[in-house]
Amino acid sequence: MPDAPQSGVRLVVGASRGIGLALAEAQLADPSVNRVITTYRPASDRRGLDRLASLHGERLQRIALDVSSDASIDSFSSLLKHVEGGIDIAIHAAGILHENGLQPEKSLADCSVPNLLRMFAVNSIGPLMVARALLETADRQRRFTFAALSAMVGSISDNRLGGWYGYRASKAALNQLIKTLSIECRVKHPQASILAIHPGTTDTGLSRPFQRNVKPGRLYTPRQTADRIIGVIQNTGPADSGRFLNWDGSEIPW
Ligand SMILES: NC(=O)c1ccc[n+]([C@@H]2O[C@H](COP(=O)([O-])OP(=O)(O)OC[C@H]3O[C@@H](n4cnc5c(N)ncnc54)[C@H](OP(=O)(O)O)[C@@H]3O)[C@@H](O)[C@H]2O)c1
Repeated sequence: MPDAPQSGVRLVVGASRGIGLALAEAQLADPSVNRVITTYRPASDRRGLDRLASLHGERLQRIALDVSSDASIDSFSSLLKHVEGGIDIAIHAAGILHENGLQPEKSLADCSVPNLLRMFAVNSIGPLMVARALLETADRQRRFTFAALSAMVGSISDNRLGGWYGYRASKAALNQLIKTLSIECRVKHPQASILAIHPGTTDTGLSRPFQRNVKPGRLYTPRQTADRIIGVIQNTGPADSGRFLNWDGSEIPW
């Protein structure tokens, strides 16, 4: 059976700022993209998305979504049923390293149940629930990419420094969930590509408090990172599903 045509519709989850906002902007700059659906949280600073809306009008769509809320995932899921033609590429950029009083742990003594659960809710379970909502409505014969932004520090074999228990573990869990989902999709969604991508250290609110030790020339702008992520996705297909890739397309060890 021939592939169903692509819709030119893209989705960016967590697009109010940082890499997600740059991913929305980069895709809107591509005339072959018909529409970019973006998500923000109700309390998000939406100035970046408002600016894109004023430039791109109806090519930009904005939907409220908190990936750690069941009710929010449910209403997002209902809205997806009305996306004409389906979504070609979905990039899950929402994630946390710190938020209101939650900081990455320097040592075991800093670990707490609520903070660890919060990291897993947003960084691991959230992307899986978003993928579930997307795959429920996806045409099984259409090419579809779900790329979750993971992190190099989620690599267990690359962990030489320790610390950041919750963030590391939640990204390692995300990687395992991505791999597991890719195996299920081999049969149920053979045209799907399910990826974990490390974006590279990028100058955003997430990394800002921790940029002191970044080597010169190794801190990238959100737009540089967005262009590279899109490049990685465009160079991969269903045969690459289940891989953990760096921003330059190279494989990262689990
Ligand atoms: N920046 C880096 O150097 C770097 C390195 C490795 C991996 N990453 C990963 O790349 C992804 C994007 O990071 P970033 O640097 O762009 O971070 P950022 O600037 O802090 O932006 C994070 C985005 O996630 C959204 N978000 C947070 N919690 C959410 C929730 N519960 N539901 C829905 N959206 C939520 C935020 O929305 P609000 O505006 O509402 O808070 C914001 O849009 C993250 O997964 C991060 O772990 C980043």
